[in-house]
Amino acid sequence: MTAAPGRGRFITFEGGEGAGKSTQIRLLADYLNACGLKVTATREPGGTPRAERLREILLSGKIAPLGPLAEATLFAAARIDHVDQLIAPTLAQGGWVLSDRFADSTRAYQGARGGVAQRDIDLLERAATGATTPDLTLILDLPPETGLARAAARRGVHEDVDRFEAEEIDFHHALRQAFLDIAARDPARCCVIDATLPPQTVAQTIRSVIDARLLNAAGQVAAQ
Ligand code: TYD
Repeated sequence: MTAAPGRGRFITFEGGEGAGKSTQIRLLADYLNACGLKVTATREPGGTPRAERLREILLSGKIAPLGPLAEATLFAAARIDHVDQLIAPTLAQGGWVLSDRFADSTRAYQGARGGVAQRDIDLLERAATGATTPDLTLILDLPPETGLARAAARRGVHEDVDRFEAEEIDFHHALRQAFLDIAARDPARCCVIDATLPPQTVAQTIRSVIDARLLNAAGQVAAQ
C-alpha cells in the first residue's frame, strides 16, 4: 500500500509458536528508536485494555467449543478496538507500530487451519482493519518442532500451554504452510524470514529488509 505523507509505518510480525517474534520486535524497536523514530510495540490479541480482556477469554479456550468462526469473530472484535484506539491514531501521528500478530493470524489459524470460509475471513478482516493494513509483514518461519520446543522452554514447568500451542503437530505444520501461502500471494507486503538462525542474525536480516523497503524507499522517511 502507499502510505499517506506524514503517516507512520505499520509492521506486523507473524509466524508459528516460538518463532521469536517478541525478541525481534524488541530489537527492531531499539533500531528504529536509534534512527530517531517514534515506535509503539503492541500485540494481538490485545494491545488495549478491552482487547486484553478478550485475549484472556480467547487463550483460555472457553470460546473454542463455539467453533472457529466464533473465535475468528472474537479475534476481529479485539482487533476493532486495537485498530481504532491504538494503531490508527498512532500511525496518524507519524508513529511506527510494530504488532506481534495481526489479521494474517486469523487467516492462518481460523481460516486455513480452522476451516472458516475465505469470504467470512475477508469480511471480518475488512470490517476490523479498514484502511489500516500493514506496510510490511515479516513472517518468521521455522519448523514447528523447533518452535514448540522453544515455546515450552520459555514457558517453564509451572505454566499451562495455551489453547493453540496445545494443538497437534499436524496443525502446526499446516499453519506454517498457511503463512508461507499468505507470503506467496502478497510478496509486495510480506517477507519470509528464516527464524532458525541466531536472534542477532535474524535481527540483522530484518533491519536490512526495513532499510530497503521502508527507510530508504524513495526517501519516504527522510521527507517526513
Ligand atoms: P501468544 O501467547 O501471543 O502466542 P505467540 O507467542 O505464538 O504469538 O498467543 C496468541 C495465540 O493466539 C497464538 O497461538 C495465535 C493465536 N491467534 C489466533 O488464533 N488468531 C488470531 O487472529 C490471533 C491474533 C492470534
